Amino acid sequence: MSWEIYYKKFYNKPPSPLLKIALTNNFYKNGVAYDVGCGTGSDTRFLLTKKWNVLAIDREDMAMVTLKKDLSKFKGLNCLKEDFTKLVFQSSELIHGTYSFGFAGEEGFDLLWQKMVESLKTGGTLSGELFGDQDDWKNSTRVKTIGHLELTKLIKGFDIMYFDEEHFHRPTALGDVKKWHVYSLVLKKR
Ligand SMILES: C[S@@+](CC[C@H](N)C(=O)[O-])C[C@H]1O[C@@H](n2cnc3c(N)ncnc32)[C@H](O)[C@@H]1O
Repeated sequence: MSWEIYYKKFYNKPPSPLLKIALTNNFYKNGVAYDVGCGTGSDTRFLLTKKWNVLAIDREDMAMVTLKKDLSKFKGLNCLKEDFTKLVFQSSELIHGTYSFGFAGEEGFDLLWQKMVESLKTGGTLSGELFGDQDDWKNSTRVKTIGHLELTKLIKGFDIMYFDEEHFHRPTALGDVKKWHVYSLVLKKR
């Protein structure tokens, strides 16, 4: 998937409202935060302004170039141009991904989730959106979609600080209208 159209469309968008919810509920007020699939860095920027040390991961050149151009002035920025399914996660206080975890795909998602869970300190926050099994991308192996039973298993070991489930029709960044089925999660590791 080419993300350039997405980046151009959403460049300079405000930080994720879900990340703001995560930061108001989190146990740790700063530390190491991962922005998983950071894109051009609106959430990374927000975390840096809140004095987090941010490990911003994305495998796209354009994301990394933009991040370095716009955010190098901040202390605490670490840019990782990597496939997040292959990343060795270090210990962290916060892991966030705005609409990105699902792009680990059918093959990569379980290991990504396991590594994120293991990386988080007790009391740490895991937040982001996951795609539900009624999403139009349910038949694509490149996107992981999740039913209620699987979701229940994934969030075992966490306290739910925020949860929402939505169904809506909206265009993708490429302009095609699709059905979205989205879980928004803020979880605290027990
Ligand atoms: C929907 S975009 C979200 C970008 C950003 N979080 C935002 O809110 O604008 C998903 C991002 O995940 C990245 N991504 C998808 N699969 C990836 C992978 N396996 N490893 C690293 N990055 C990946 C894409 O390059 C893209 O920047």
